[in-house]
Amino acid sequence: MEVKADTRKFHEIECDALVVGLFEGEKPLEGDLAEIDKRTEGVISSLIETGEFSGKSGESAYVHNTGGLKARRLLLMGYGKKEEFSADNVRRMAGAAARTLRGKKSRTFAFLRRSDLNIGESAQAATEGALLSLYDIDKYHTSDKTENHLDQMILITGDGVDELRAGIETGRIIAEATNFARDVINEPANIMTPTELARRAEDTAHSYALELDVLDEARMKELGMGSLLGVAQGSAEPAKLIVLRYTPKTESDETIAIVGKGITFDTGGISIKPADGMEKMKYDMAGGATTIGAMRAIAQLKPAVNVIGIVPATENMPGGRSQRPGDVVRAMTGKTIEVINTDAEGRLVLADAVAYARKLGATKIVDLATLTGAVSIALGDVYVAVLGSDQTWIDEIISAGKKAGEKIWQLPLDKEYREQIKSEIADIKNIGGRKAGTITGAYFIREFVEDTPWAHLDIAGTAWNDSNKPHLSAGPTGVCVRTLVKLVCG
Ligand code: BES
Ligand code: MN
Ligand code: ZN
Repeated sequence: MEVKADTRKFHEIECDALVVGLFEGEKPLEGDLAEIDKRTEGVISSLIETGEFSGKSGESAYVHNTGGLKARRLLLMGYGKKEEFSADNVRRMAGAAARTLRGKKSRTFAFLRRSDLNIGESAQAATEGALLSLYDIDKYHTSDKTENHLDQMILITGDGVDELRAGIETGRIIAEATNFARDVINEPANIMTPTELARRAEDTAHSYALELDVLDEARMKELGMGSLLGVAQGSAEPAKLIVLRYTPKTESDETIAIVGKGITFDTGGISIKPADGMEKMKYDMAGGATTIGAMRAIAQLKPAVNVIGIVPATENMPGGRSQRPGDVVRAMTGKTIEVINTDAEGRLVLADAVAYARKLGATKIVDLATLTGAVSIALGDVYVAVLGSDQTWIDEIISAGKKAGEKIWQLPLDKEYREQIKSEIADIKNIGGRKAGTITGAYFIREFVEDTPWAHLDIAGTAWNDSNKPHLSAGPTGVCVRTLVKLVCG
């Protein structure tokens, strides 16, 4: 879908639908609202009078008879309370409007700006919301495909058209990077092998001028990555350690490493998972796909800081060569690990990946992973969990999330939790029992980042949306692409 700016008055724009938001309790007494009301013979006032529409968040009204407008239909959306309105409401409203109108076979719609939010920011949010909402996972349907298609969203503005256009451009870059990540996550594991994931990273590197290095198992072995290779040894698919690098034009002393878990399928290994729902474990590379997606946007937005994206990619399979519960492996840092449960594999591959980030000169690390089922018990599908060793870095991440419209909640990581992952036989063991599963998982990774400022995002609860929502289709969400881009690019 194309997104464009238009400086004409809303009633002059020919399109299938005009989308107009109303705040809770707002009446069409003046300005654009009064004008629309007049041109539609009082349809807004009458919907308000009858109580059919009051501007509450989530409400909408679809009006057929638009008389004095050039738009064929009018879609009123509830914006909720004016004092609570933010760019994130714009994102959701644009998304809900786009999905609703696609369902009604619209091809073009215009979105009237109704708030006093910053023009560029709201244009970016509207563009993101619409482009993200229209994403659907019907690549493998050969019949009953989503046939309706929106061609164009028009953002109307009287002034600030340059800011508006810039906002559209940024929004498009970020939404397309997120949808790229969703495509990669959605591929089944027979297609999205570690080799294929590396190939997608290679495409990204070529298209957006990033440097790429893909380490094969021999190189990982030379580097002593026994923890990652222990997970990979049970799979017939060769593991890959994918490294994407962005270098700014002007030199910077800072290097941010984004490290994403890339388990292309997690059976659990010898500690095998139950069959029920196991198919969903194709999304266990969501952190990795998100890392590549974020790097794609970063390459286009060109921040003034070095960024490396690292994805340890492997399957976790049971078999005659698989690692066993009780095995002891040696990570790249030299630490020994007792593998109590082969299903706690994410932390094992991340241990070597974060150590490699340090080796490549990272001054700050953020990793993201579908690491624990426990995070869904703690925070559901609403909040991403963040844990880390550096409060300033954590605060920056939470704040970037707020600005990007992604909710992130900090969990504690106090020293006391270290007790749970003490091993009798090795330096550390890879599980810490039933209590505080998300915390002990993060603590394990912490042991391998040493003194580099680091934060860990557990996206197991948020990377997959189980059911269709007004502004978002079921399936992979691409969560944290927006946060990471905001974090790095500001
Ligand atoms: N990939 C899973 C985490 C996961 C579980 C994501 C359910 C989404 C839904 C991870 O590798 C895993 O298996 N974690 C175990 C850890 C346990 C063995 C300590 C878990 O959460 O059960
Ligand atoms: Mn697992
Ligand atoms: Zn996993």
